Amino acid sequence: MENSFTLVTIFGLLFTLGNVGPQAEAARAFFVFGDSLVDNGNNNYLATTARADAYPYGEQIGSEPTLPYLSPELNGQRLLIGANFASAGIGILNDTGVQFVNIIRIGEQLQYFRQYQQRVSALIGPEQTQRLVNEALVLMTLGGNDFVNNYYLVPFSARSRQFALPDYVVYIISEYRKILLRLYELGARRVLVTGTGPLGCVPAELAQHSRAGECAVELQRASALFNPQLAEMLSGLNAELGSDIFVAVNTNEMHMDWINNPQQFGFVTSKVACCGQGPYNGIGLCTIASNLCPNRDIYAFWDPFHPSERANKLIVQQIITGSTKYMHPMNLSTIMELDSRV
Ligand SMILES: *[C@@H]1O[C@H](CO)[C@@H](O)[C@H](O)[C@H]1NC(C)=O
Ligand SMILES: *[C@@H]1O[C@H](CO)[C@@H](O)[C@H](O)[C@H]1NC(C)=O
Repeated sequence: MENSFTLVTIFGLLFTLGNVGPQAEAARAFFVFGDSLVDNGNNNYLATTARADAYPYGEQIGSEPTLPYLSPELNGQRLLIGANFASAGIGILNDTGVQFVNIIRIGEQLQYFRQYQQRVSALIGPEQTQRLVNEALVLMTLGGNDFVNNYYLVPFSARSRQFALPDYVVYIISEYRKILLRLYELGARRVLVTGTGPLGCVPAELAQHSRAGECAVELQRASALFNPQLAEMLSGLNAELGSDIFVAVNTNEMHMDWINNPQQFGFVTSKVACCGQGPYNGIGLCTIASNLCPNRDIYAFWDPFHPSERANKLIVQQIITGSTKYMHPMNLSTIMELDSRV
């Protein structure tokens, strides 16, 4: 199933933030691309094996301010709010997530974005559409699945036979760069790009690889290589484009704070999931038959892969006000401030 974190709760908060303040009268559109970290429902409209609508996942999702692009309700004026193109299980590479059928790969998400712009054009005309897209806030999340659902999916995977890990990282970063340039060509001008979380520290990985609660070494090595190269690639793109288009969100650093010091953040544990079964509640999915903790707010992980809502709120807080250690070259409150002046 879906092997990534979900930050679905971030939508609501980012979206609200995007539409308050000095420019509140002209609501800013919000677009989301990438994997299950940010998939709020497109997979539920497809016959796919990577879905998140089974109870009790739905309960966690709550409001959906930015509708999934494939939702039949996304039409008319609602299109102007933005759209969520993300799809669980996908990666930078087309061969990531092959075990899932009918997922929307990133190339196809970008094609839908083009189609979306044509639909909006029919409503408000091409110039207004371009303005809406240029002024929008975009969230892009890719990469985790290229490790979990590709390189490390099975022992001796095709990609792991083709590339040593450091070379694989260089390769996927170069492919990611092309995807981001494409997004720029399609009009995006403010793009938050999240790195991978600490892939080896989620309860699902602890259940499989950990004897004493230590994070799984190989996946941690992967995030340690990927995240700094992603940040560097984004800085390079910004320099080339002559503008701070891409903002690196250091999700790894944001997670490590409460993974290393759960008590400091009011969690009883960062190793055992609130809902699940087996060691660390890290086996399988959260279902009606799982162990369920009495208070999900004191668990850092909700299920074997996903942080709890309260952990996600800590991440959102860092996105909004974090220092350059977390948000590079600047945090979201600075972006909002800059963009409200133009
Ligand atoms: C992935 O597939 C798309 C659509 O088929 C194609 O345009 C793109 O070049 C492929 N990417 C790679 C890296 O092969
Ligand atoms: C982030 O946000 C805070 C305000 O909440 C601000 O003081 C700080 O300078 C910002 N940092 C950066 C790097 O933008």
